[in-house]
Amino acid sequence: MEAVGQLSGGIAHDFNNLLTVIIGNAELLNEALRAWPDLQKLATTVRSAGERGAELTRRLLAFSRRQTLIPKEIDCNQLVDSMWQIVRRTIREDIDIKKDLDAGLWRVYADQPQLESALLNLSINSQDAMPGGGSINITTSNMMLDEQYRDQNPEVPPGRYVMISLTDTGEGMSAEVLQHVFEPFYTTKDVGKGTGLGLSMVYGFVKQSNGHLTIYSEPGLGTTVRIYLPAMTSSESPQEDSPNAQAREDYARSTGAENILVVEDDMFVRTYAITCLETLGYRVIAAVDGREALALLAGGIEIDGLFTDVVMPGGINGWELIDRARRLRPGLPVLLCSGYAIETLGAHGRLPDDVVFLNKPYTKADLAGYLRRALDRRIMKQY
Ligand SMILES: Nc1ncnc2c1ncn2[C@@H]1O[C@H](COP(=O)(O)OP(=O)(O)O)[C@@H](O)[C@H]1O
Ligand SMILES: [Mg+2]
Repeated sequence: MEAVGQLSGGIAHDFNNLLTVIIGNAELLNEALRAWPDLQKLATTVRSAGERGAELTRRLLAFSRRQTLIPKEIDCNQLVDSMWQIVRRTIREDIDIKKDLDAGLWRVYADQPQLESALLNLSINSQDAMPGGGSINITTSNMMLDEQYRDQNPEVPPGRYVMISLTDTGEGMSAEVLQHVFEPFYTTKDVGKGTGLGLSMVYGFVKQSNGHLTIYSEPGLGTTVRIYLPAMTSSESPQEDSPNAQAREDYARSTGAENILVVEDDMFVRTYAITCLETLGYRVIAAVDGREALALLAGGIEIDGLFTDVVMPGGINGWELIDRARRLRPGLPVLLCSGYAIETLGAHGRLPDDVVFLNKPYTKADLAGYLRRALDRRIMKQY
């Protein structure tokens, strides 16, 4: 499984560069073709196909534990409550959905959209296993996993966990199927019905969140999936919240007139980034790698912000570039960008406070919003 993870992580990374170019240029075409609705439709089709591809690479990255997680403090009861509505609307009506939530539940520190999508994925699996109807029961509870538990599950550190479980009354799984369920692309469903990426994504997400996942299943009786996430200790202070939806929308429309140094080795991605930034009003200076960027900086170019890829050939990666660029220009606002992140994000997969991170593939609106945030962060600090 480790090898498959490595491989799929690598593929996903390369695909994210390609998808940035496909989705991005389709979006630019879409804008340019406003007067030709027929042609505009073609651009829209290209874009939505690209986005489906991006969803697949996201799942692959999730499996290989290389997606960027943005953890925050979560009350899992609240999360299950709000997800219940969505699950209810998504799942067939001949399936009863119940929930049983533990009062006084500890909080966890995890990526909320990922956890939501995990619950939705598990619910859809349960639905698929109950072609004649049945029920799904979602529960939450506090759990102490002790040394005894560790004896059976050596990889699980003892401690306080919040457990979210999802039980169905479906077909269940044979021992043979159970052995393979976490492998990416493993599916027992017909072509077009299953991708085999659902459980592998959930598994990768839970592992990357320092949690633990178990499946209990009996053929003919049903299945229980349990997610354990480490409970927050009171000393853990949650990081700054991501901006609310309104602020995000405002940001997505934001433009700018600053000078931006763009560093990206992939020619197509670079061209796309430059086009986006120029149409947003920025002035762009481009470099193909860290070395060229540093040479430009040493030569005295005027810039207000740096937008750089993480993984680049030529011996200087994004992190080192930031360090050295900031030695030349203290406090330089930085927007960092990558198709994946974990290997570059430091030990805990968390970003330093003063760096804004953008995932590939990104759209023009994403770039507009994240760059504005990176540039404004310095202004907030100065005054
Ligand atoms: N709740 C469930 N009940 C029975 N079988 C399940 C359940 N969840 C998953 N499976 C089995 O595990 C396989 C892999 O699941 P998943 O990774 O979500 O991929 P997919 O749903 O696309 O097939 C499914 O094809 C199915 O055989
Ligand atoms: Mg599935």
